[in-house]
Amino acid sequence: MNPATNLESLKQHEITGAVAVSTGKGGLPRVTVATAHSRTELYLHGAHVTAFQKNGEPPLLFMSTASHFAADKPIRGGIPICFPWFGARTGAPAHGFARLMEWHLAATSVLPDGRVSVRLRLLDNSGLAAQFPGKVEYTVTAGETLTLELHVVNTSGEHLAFEECLHTYFAVGDIAAVSVRGLKGVSYLDKVGEPATRTETESTIKFSSEVDRVYLDTVQPVIIEDAKLKRTIRVEKFHSKSTVVWNPWIAKAKAMPDFGDDEYHRMVCVESGNVAQNQMALTAGASSTLKVVLSSQLG
Ligand code: BG6
Repeated sequence: MNPATNLESLKQHEITGAVAVSTGKGGLPRVTVATAHSRTELYLHGAHVTAFQKNGEPPLLFMSTASHFAADKPIRGGIPICFPWFGARTGAPAHGFARLMEWHLAATSVLPDGRVSVRLRLLDNSGLAAQFPGKVEYTVTAGETLTLELHVVNTSGEHLAFEECLHTYFAVGDIAAVSVRGLKGVSYLDKVGEPATRTETESTIKFSSEVDRVYLDTVQPVIIEDAKLKRTIRVEKFHSKSTVVWNPWIAKAKAMPDFGDDEYHRMVCVESGNVAQNQMALTAGASSTLKVVLSSQLG
C-alpha cells in the first residue's frame, strides 16, 4: 500500500451493507461493493475493477491466477485502464501509467435506484502523472449492470491529445465456443504478425489463433456470445470510437509471466476506448467522458 494511504482514512467512505474497504492481495487497498443484484471488487491500484458478478451468474470478468498484485506492476485481468496512451511506448510503461498508480478514493454513494457508485481520482502529484496536464476521474457504478466512466478535463491551456481504453477481460467457458458480433464492415489494425489494415468481413468473429485487432470508427455495441456458459454479454459504448479484440492464444500466453499457459481458453478481451487514429484531442478547458455499460444474460 502507498504509505500515504491510510486504511482508516479510506474507511470514511464505507457504507454499511454496500461499500467496504479492506487490505487486498499484495497489501493493496481494495473496495468491495454489494448491491441487491451483484458484487464488485476494485483496487485503488490502477482503479482496477477485478471482479463483477451478478447473483446466479458466473463471474463476468476473467482474472489471471498468475496476476501480480504489486505497486509497480499492472494487474492481469479484470478491467485495466490504459491511459494516457495505448500499447507500447519506448522508455515508458506499456498502456500508460494509469494502471500503475494508486488512485484516490474520492467518494462513494448509493443511488436512488439502489445502484452503488465509487468515484476515484488520478492523483497528479507524482511520477508520470505529474506531467499529464489534466484532471482524470473514474466512476464505477454497479447494480444489475456495471457502468464505467472515465472523465478527463484538459487543464493545460492548450490542445491535449491522449488515448484511453478500458481493457476489459471477460470470463468465458471456452474460447472455442465464443463469437463476437457487431464489428462486420469495420476497418481494423491487425497487430498479429506484420501490422496491416483490414476490413472485418465476418458478422461473428471466432477464435482459433491469436487475435489482436484495433477496430476503428465504430461506436456500435459489441455482443459476446458464450455457447459454453450459455451467456450473452453486451458491451455498450458511449464516446468510444475504438474497440480492441484480443486473445493471446498459445505462444503469447506462454510468454507472459503473469498469465497462466492455459488461461487463454477462458478469456476474451473486448476493450472500449479511443486509440490510434481515434485518439482524443481536447481543446483548452474541454472535457470528455468515455462510458461503457456491461450487461449479461444467461440462457
Ligand atoms: C491488448 C493489445 O490490448 O493488450 C495487445 O492489443 C497486448 O497487443 C495486450 O499484448 C496486453 O498488454 P499488456 O501490456 O497488458 O501485456
